[in-house]
Amino acid sequence: MQQSLETFTAVLSAEQFADTVIQWQKQHGRNDLPWQTDADPYHVLVSELMLQQTQVSTVIPYFQRWLSRFPTVQQLAAASTDEVMALWQGLGYYSRARNLHRAAQQICRDYHGNIPSEANELREIAGIGAYTAGAIRAFAYDRDGVIVDGNVKRLFSRFFAIAGDLSTSAQQRLLWQLAEHYTPSSNNRRYAQGLLDLGATICTPRQPQCYNCPLKPNCQAVKYDRVDELPQRKTKAAIPTRHGIFLWQVDQHGVLLEQRPTTGIWPSLWCLPELTADSVSHAEASFSQHGTFKHTFSHYKLIAQVVTHKPNQPHVAHASATAIQRQVQWHELSNIGLPAPIAKYLRQHLPSPLSNT
Ligand code: ADE
Repeated sequence: MQQSLETFTAVLSAEQFADTVIQWQKQHGRNDLPWQTDADPYHVLVSELMLQQTQVSTVIPYFQRWLSRFPTVQQLAAASTDEVMALWQGLGYYSRARNLHRAAQQICRDYHGNIPSEANELREIAGIGAYTAGAIRAFAYDRDGVIVDGNVKRLFSRFFAIAGDLSTSAQQRLLWQLAEHYTPSSNNRRYAQGLLDLGATICTPRQPQCYNCPLKPNCQAVKYDRVDELPQRKTKAAIPTRHGIFLWQVDQHGVLLEQRPTTGIWPSLWCLPELTADSVSHAEASFSQHGTFKHTFSHYKLIAQVVTHKPNQPHVAHASATAIQRQVQWHELSNIGLPAPIAKYLRQHLPSPLSNT
């Protein structure tokens, strides 16, 4: 039977919960992250999109480079897709970069370059879902933004002893209702940061430091000795393997690349041309193996074979109907977005005079 919200919120009043988190954050939270220094809404937008699937330590150098290249939302809006994708290179989940670029254009077009503060307006912007809208409202405007991310889910599932699969819609609704109930009406920036900091540094997935947790006296998982079993672990489905074949066609000036479509893996990035298994097997005699690489995406593992035309064999037509292909000069590689495993493969196989540069 579904427990009512009130049975959970009886654990601690909203004021006491928020005060505890806020006081702890002041003393023990993270207060020198680069996007915290001025809480500029554009900086918060950039950092939140970068942090959606990437940890803080990885994001910091990307965030700094991003702001030195695109100091304002107007400069980002005016940039080319290639430049945006190049700067995101290596962070993964490239749809975030496309969304951030589109978000900047929407904000310039619809809001004169000012990032809105109302959740319903924020939700209309590319890449901004419920969590990010709440985070921008709290971090940029110090308003009552409600946030539920992986950190908050873990902390709440322990603090309120919420068992079961947290991804069901009933559990999601409960978590958002609890988050809303406990969101204070002032000091929201510090409160939101405190929740994330507690989740990242104290209420960690493994070996949480309950002895340092300010919420320990009221934590239901501590009370019933269930910290180790909450939140319920997801049984990870084994991810499938896919095979891909890519073409290596280089000369002393550069390498043949194609810009991938805007959907699918590596959207809009420049990649070695991908061949179909059919086209290669029909012309097997004209290809030889050049190398291999592997890459793990969130939903599958790619095992890639790189092939090259044998000398003096006719080049088989392979251009896909939709992709733009061109010989990219070696010196241009740093200005376009390449998937990380392709960039690595290129670095490892550059023709020898270049590999020393
Ligand atoms: N993850 C998302 N937003 C964050 C923030 N402001 N600080 C730390 N981690 C975060």
